[in-house]
Amino acid sequence: MTPRNAAPRVSVIGTGYLGATHAAAMAELGFDVVGIDSDASKIEALASGRLPFFEPGLAELIQTHLASGRLRFTTELADAVGSSDIHFICVGTPQRMGSHAANTDYVEGAVAAVARALTHDGIVVGKSTVPVGTAARLRELVEALVPDGITAELIWNPEFLREGKAVEDTLRPDRIVIGGASEAAEQALRTLYATPISNGTPVIACDLPTAELVKVSANAFLATKISFINAIAELCDASGADVTVLADALGHDARIGRKFLNAGLGFGGGCLPKDIRALTHRAAELGAMGAVGLLEQVDDINMSQRQRVVDLALDAVGGSPLLARIGVLGAAFKPHTDDVRDSPALNVAAALHLRGAQVAVYDPAAGETGRRTFPTLGFVDSLEDAVAGADVLLVLTEWSEFIDADPEAVGRMVRARTIIDARNCLDAAAWRAAGWTVRGLGRSTAQAESRSLVLA
Ligand code: UGA
Repeated sequence: MTPRNAAPRVSVIGTGYLGATHAAAMAELGFDVVGIDSDASKIEALASGRLPFFEPGLAELIQTHLASGRLRFTTELADAVGSSDIHFICVGTPQRMGSHAANTDYVEGAVAAVARALTHDGIVVGKSTVPVGTAARLRELVEALVPDGITAELIWNPEFLREGKAVEDTLRPDRIVIGGASEAAEQALRTLYATPISNGTPVIACDLPTAELVKVSANAFLATKISFINAIAELCDASGADVTVLADALGHDARIGRKFLNAGLGFGGGCLPKDIRALTHRAAELGAMGAVGLLEQVDDINMSQRQRVVDLALDAVGGSPLLARIGVLGAAFKPHTDDVRDSPALNVAAALHLRGAQVAVYDPAAGETGRRTFPTLGFVDSLEDAVAGADVLLVLTEWSEFIDADPEAVGRMVRARTIIDARNCLDAAAWRAAGWTVRGLGRSTAQAESRSLVLA
């Protein structure tokens, strides 16, 4: 350990979204940090201040602390662990091939490597999202592997950052959960997080399984909220109601809240879909069948949103996509990211492409990642190229470039003025005023027309 009262030195194992952001944030909070990854190209990029992915504000923060000398990156785990006191495990837990279970091999590998490399007492802090029960197993692993005479404690401190807002979420988290910590370990983490704590972030100290479950339950709740409003959107379509007005009205009840009540194409990305599936799998293993049923329904509703948008697009081009040109606006799973992992947008674009339509996809940030993921899909580099000659436009990711587009100018470039607003993000009245047919999800045309009449 560092001498008493000296600031703890931090190592961060795994430098993806979570680890790179956490490392930079710890440096910003005043600590000496080393980020470690086995991927040499990733480390090379980070060490020269470049990000291997898109995340607003993160490259600048990394550059600042490469320059301040508080942050460095290496592939040499043993050296880095030897010169640090608190070791954060930030490696991924992808879905296992052929199963919904989370693959915890990388976490186990990282924890084992750290435990073996310890040269002095330390704290191993899990941040990765893991199935409940994993941390207890890892604790035994640390105890078995730690060199004689060295004491290491494994605790859990889940991360709640959102892509696109990762820096803000890490520097100013909603809450800090510390699971399974002794008094000394809790105190060490309180020292690391002293700045957000002094700014009012609450700390919840709990046992290991509670800390593991807080994380996945948070994502499961957010997913449930989205699928709830999408189920209500279906009811709105069937009854002539408008889900956006309904969500506004619901949201005024502070117990419900307006956030995560946007109906539309549903959730995707590297976290929510994977986490609810892993949780469903784990719940089944533990015999918690109520949770299994609920989460399966959430997943089902979410996936059916993608089919609904495909159906709306097919309907708009008269049932046969073969001669249709479809302009797709958005490929990322949400705005402010280039991430296309389990992206509903890419999924819908690909489904229409596979049905034989000529699909032109434009995304302000995710063109490159989209191309890599789906090389046979037609990606273009501007909104103009995506809409030119289109029989129907689909807004699949709510980037402001699409929300702010001029309906009249776009209208002059298309073959037919039909737009499917799968994120319910457009000013439908303004588009209709420019002669467009606008279809949303949960916003029946009749109701939306009558609203725009009232507004006019
Ligand atoms: C999510 C959680 O929000 C984070 O708290 C968590 O830390 C993270 O997963 C993780 O586990 O690492 P993220 O995947 O970045 O973060 O994305 P969100 O902002 O949660 O959005 C997820 C999806 O839900 C997006 O596809 C978005 O378009 C969709 N969504 C969101 C809706 O369909 N409707 C809404 O009202 C809100």
